[in-house]
Amino acid sequence: MKTKSIVFDAYGTLFDVNSAAEKCKDKIGGKWEGFANFWRTTQLEYTWLRSLMKRHKDFWQITEDSLDKSMKVFDIDMSMKNDLLNLYKVLSPYPEVKNVLENLKKKKYKLAILSNGTPALLDELVQSNHLKDLFDDLFSIESVKIYKPDSKVYDLPLKKYKIKPSEVTFLSANTWDVSGAGNYGYNSVWVNRNNAIFDNLDFKPKNEINNLTQLLDLI
Ligand code: LAC
Repeated sequence: MKTKSIVFDAYGTLFDVNSAAEKCKDKIGGKWEGFANFWRTTQLEYTWLRSLMKRHKDFWQITEDSLDKSMKVFDIDMSMKNDLLNLYKVLSPYPEVKNVLENLKKKKYKLAILSNGTPALLDELVQSNHLKDLFDDLFSIESVKIYKPDSKVYDLPLKKYKIKPSEVTFLSANTWDVSGAGNYGYNSVWVNRNNAIFDNLDFKPKNEINNLTQLLDLI
């Protein structure tokens, strides 16, 4: 690989999106995991639908809108809404994240996040988890106001670093994001944490790993 920059998706790849609902599982009860998955799916659907409708709202508002619907569908007491939202701001990273980033930093790659998240959300996520110094850039779709997988999003690191798509190694646990970035021309790696099935969207990743530590053997 002739990688110059390693770019990470945030939600589901570096940070565990289910950890907000999990921290409230005593109050939510056994349905917490189904609820967490429904919230995540609705949130993503809203990003794609708003991009297609050309009615942009930022990711924080979409997170709240999708939470509101999901709480109603799962009959969860609305008094928990603010707690769940606030926990989404301080999601936990997966256990290997810090060590892998420290390792890659020593190898002098440009390290970045490329995410649907707003600049403020991304900043809070890396600050609260003591990861800020490890990244060169936090690229947010807010600078182009359209969500992944629009190509304007994947343009962002190339414009900043003046590199070609093939010089980016991109990691995402979201199959559709791996497909979007792979179709764009990135060397797109699937972080398949849960032994899932890949999409049929005109791109199959050359590399699939189960956790980010395995990236260290790839580059
Ligand atoms: C992100 C979502 C797709 O961080 O996980 O952009």
